[in-house]
Order: sequence, then C-alpha cells, then structure tokens
Amino acid sequence: MCLEDIIRVIKGRRCVRSFREGEIPNEYIHKILEAGIWAPSGGNIQPWEFIVVRNRDMIDKIKLVSPGLFGDPSVIIVVCINLEKAKRGGRIGESMAIIDVSMAAQNIMLVAYALGIGSCPIVSFSKTAVKELLDIPKYVEPILLITLGYTDKWPNPPARRPLEEVVHYEKY
Ligand SMILES: Cc1cc2nc3c(=O)[nH]c(=O)nc-3n(C[C@H](O)[C@H](O)[C@H](O)COP(=O)(O)O)c2cc1C
Repeated sequence: MCLEDIIRVIKGRRCVRSFREGEIPNEYIHKILEAGIWAPSGGNIQPWEFIVVRNRDMIDKIKLVSPGLFGDPSVIIVVCINLEKAKRGGRIGESMAIIDVSMAAQNIMLVAYALGIGSCPIVSFSKTAVKELLDIPKYVEPILLITLGYTDKWPNPPARRPLEEVVHYEKY
C-alpha cells in the first residue's frame, strides 16, 4: 500500500459539475460499488442500497427534480437506506444509517476518482419525485445522489479550514 497514493486520491478528488460524454465501463461501476459496500457500518448492519441509473431519459428526469445537480453525468448512483434494516440499530438506527451511507458514498467517490471519473454528491433533490421515478418502495429512503462521468474540467480545490482552526487537542 502506498500512503502517498492514498493521500493524493483523498486530496485530489473534486466535486465535478461539468461532464463530457463517455460511457463508464460496467467493470468500473462494479469496482466503484464494491468500494461502497466495504465502508464501515454501525453494528455492521449495512443498511445501504444503491440504484445505478444509466438511462439518458431517466437521468434527464432526475435532473428536472434535482436543483443541486449540475452537468450531464453518464451515471447517477442513488444512495439509499433500507429503513427495515436500519431499524435493527434501534433508537439510533436511522441516524447511524445516514453515517453508514455517507461513508459508503466517500468510498465510491474516491474509487471513481482513482479510475479517472469525476463525481459529485447531491442532497438537493426531491426524494418524493426520485422515489416515484425509480419505483423505490416505502421502506427505502434515497439519501444522496452521486453523479459520475468523465470530465475535462477538474475544478480547483476549494479552500479548507486550516487544521489549527478545526482541531482541538485533549480539550475543546
Ligand atoms: C452532504 C453533501 C451535500 C452536497 N450537496 C451538493 C449539492 O446538492 N449540489 C452540489 O453541486 N454539490 C453538493 N455537495 C458538494 C459540496 O459542495 C462540495 O463537496 C464542497 O464544495 C467541497 O468541494 P470538493 O468536494 O470539490 O472539495 C455536497 C456535499 C456534501 C458532503
């Protein structure tokens, strides 16, 4: 394992909002999703479910109900929580499930980047409309859209709050 490569991928990944055409091979989608399911999960419940949307018409329909989705991605991964599974986490089941799928989402975006594919996580979308468009059952909740696609425009990195500002040692 090369630490430098891992750090390069973590720091180099950017939210991409402008895509060019280009089909992402199924094999890459498989690798990307596999990274998702290897995320840590509270109580190892693994409440995640993913819907892979490649159909152009459906992508356009999702765009219409997603004000936060920019560009024309080749693929949208709808990251969902299965509420029946999340229940196993008891009182904190749902909040834990959101943390779980967030970790899966980050794995997905990092592996996409390592494969040369741009991505962006999107919370600004209509859950109700997406549920209806994709025949998502009542007990499954879409949490995040992840757009995927090739790009010629990797954005500049937005500034990070410096470590000195965000880290507290021993006590706040
Ligand atoms: C929970 C979450 C929700 C986000 N929702 C959107 C969104 O709806 N639309 C969008 O364009 N970007 C969205 N983003 C991307 C952020 O704007 C982006 O991560 C941030 O500006 C930092 O840029 P970077 O990821 O390229 O470093 C979201 C990111 C996170 C973590």
